[in-house]
Amino acid sequence: MTEPATRAADRTSTNPKERITMDDSGFSTMLARLSEKSRDEYYNPYTKFTWPDTVSEDQWWMNPDYLTVSGTGLIDDEETLKALARYETVNFFSLHVHGIRELMIEVAKRIHTPDFAEYNEYLHHFIGEENAHMWFFAEFCHRYTGGIYPEAASPLRREGFGNLWDDVIVFSRILIFEEIFDYYNSRMGKDQLIPDILREIHAAHHHDESRHVAFGKQLVKRLYDRALAADPDRREEIEKYVKDYMTYSVRSLYNPQIFRDCGVGNPLAVRREALSHPVREAFHVKLMTRVDRFFVAAGIFSTSWGTEHVSA
Ligand SMILES: [Fe+2]
Ligand SMILES: [Fe+2]
Repeated sequence: MTEPATRAADRTSTNPKERITMDDSGFSTMLARLSEKSRDEYYNPYTKFTWPDTVSEDQWWMNPDYLTVSGTGLIDDEETLKALARYETVNFFSLHVHGIRELMIEVAKRIHTPDFAEYNEYLHHFIGEENAHMWFFAEFCHRYTGGIYPEAASPLRREGFGNLWDDVIVFSRILIFEEIFDYYNSRMGKDQLIPDILREIHAAHHHDESRHVAFGKQLVKRLYDRALAADPDRREEIEKYVKDYMTYSVRSLYNPQIFRDCGVGNPLAVRREALSHPVREAFHVKLMTRVDRFFVAAGIFSTSWGTEHVSA
């Protein structure tokens, strides 16, 4: 019961309705439409998939075009690349499990508090759907591999910017995270090269995330405008933080453990070379284009992430 009062302490208005309603009936209409879609398209994650007894290691678990070493020539042996496709799949799913668990905690802290009252209905769908995603991503790893990778320590602090800015940070991180996943899910959800169960998981996730991304962009913009009006001095600090989070997120795809697990000699050097390879740097820009453009268009970035961070 202390949370709403604590969180409300530095808000600009004491009237919850005034704070949350903003001035936009378009956003409310979108929220109602997304909630309706979530209800209509609701599925039971525990019965949705037909899990095969095994997933063949002769198949590509991830299209080689999407591997972290794609286009670099650093690894050219097909057996090692296929192993990398398996470990990268596990890493990718593990990133969702750990990333969304931590972000769900932040969403759960906010649901049914005065500042988020207008979003309650949709946030319930969000939490429910992310809980389903966590389950099926982890389930795949536990059924067919040695399980998920442990969570890597993040060098970025996650709060302490003031309540309104912390809200912006949380939902910006969710949006970045979801856009990265959607880049891969939307492609691998249609990819006939990979095993059926993996294609179905990617497709299911893409289907739900298209709603989350639509919601997230509108919400981040509103939260940002509210925070900026209350505390304009932190604008540059927030821009830097969000960009650093984008850089960190790209780097997390290159988990050193995946290179060790598929038997690559000198895994840290291979990781380093892959990360800074010009082909990969161009790919990172492509991967982030949609969310980067959003942050620029929303006025959250004064310059795009791509031009500043890719060669860092
Ligand atoms: Fe998800
Ligand atoms: Fe999501």
